[in-house]
Amino acid sequence: SAGLAHEINNPIGIIAARVECMLWEADEQGLSETVRGDLKVIARHADRVARITQGLLSFSRQQAWRLSPVDVNTVVEEALVLVEKQLAREQVTLERDLAPGLPAVLGSANHLQQVLLNLLTNAREAMPEGGRLRVATRRNGGSVEVEVADTGKGIPAGHLSRVFDPFFTTKEKGTGLGLAISYGIVRDHQGTLTVGSREGAGTTFLVTIPAAGEREGRRHG
Ligand SMILES: Nc1ncnc2c1ncn2[C@@H]1O[C@H](COP(=O)(O)OP(=O)(O)O)[C@@H](O)[C@H]1O
Ligand SMILES: [Mg+2]
Repeated sequence: SAGLAHEINNPIGIIAARVECMLWEADEQGLSETVRGDLKVIARHADRVARITQGLLSFSRQQAWRLSPVDVNTVVEEALVLVEKQLAREQVTLERDLAPGLPAVLGSANHLQQVLLNLLTNAREAMPEGGRLRVATRRNGGSVEVEVADTGKGIPAGHLSRVFDPFFTTKEKGTGLGLAISYGIVRDHQGTLTVGSREGAGTTFLVTIPAAGEREGRRHG
């Protein structure tokens, strides 16, 4: 998808820049309110396309990973630091239950943090009126698990199989890329990302990644 994203990224950048110019010159040129309104709509959507292609580009940049031992609890703590304040502001109670002494996993701490951030952001966005967010880690056999559970609006049964699809979104300003990217990152750690949800009750995402010692000797990419 990197090639395609580049192909889209260049022309959309030009479109956005030209529209920007036209809006600057709108007064001079005596453009009507209607035309100005249309230009603003074009600018907004060009922006959206640019954001989507940026997402695709960062998705496919993963090939350059160097695998190193990662402490999952540290990844979780660092992601939580970034969202904690906003959660508190939005009346979301944070409950953390991190198991001590977890084995390391082999991978990229940055990418795993991106996964956690995506899951935490989605959880927050599912609880606009507040609620409870539980983040737990544990060892399960040869794997490390991270659970992110919210008491938010939940996912309708009919949507469950589609939430990992690129561009699937139910949000007005969503890109539908967060979970697709997260899924790819977890898969590249030889792990799994699964979801369970009840509409109106809440949603639980489960990340499972094999511990460093348990991984097959297979090389990434
Ligand atoms: N915790 C959650 N609670 C309810 N719905 C969720 C949750 N996480 C994901 N979803 C659903 O999955 C869709 C895709 O999520 P994502 O890939 O992160 O894209 P985006 O957040 O941009 O919409 C969301 O639009 C939403 O419908
Ligand atoms: Mg999201």
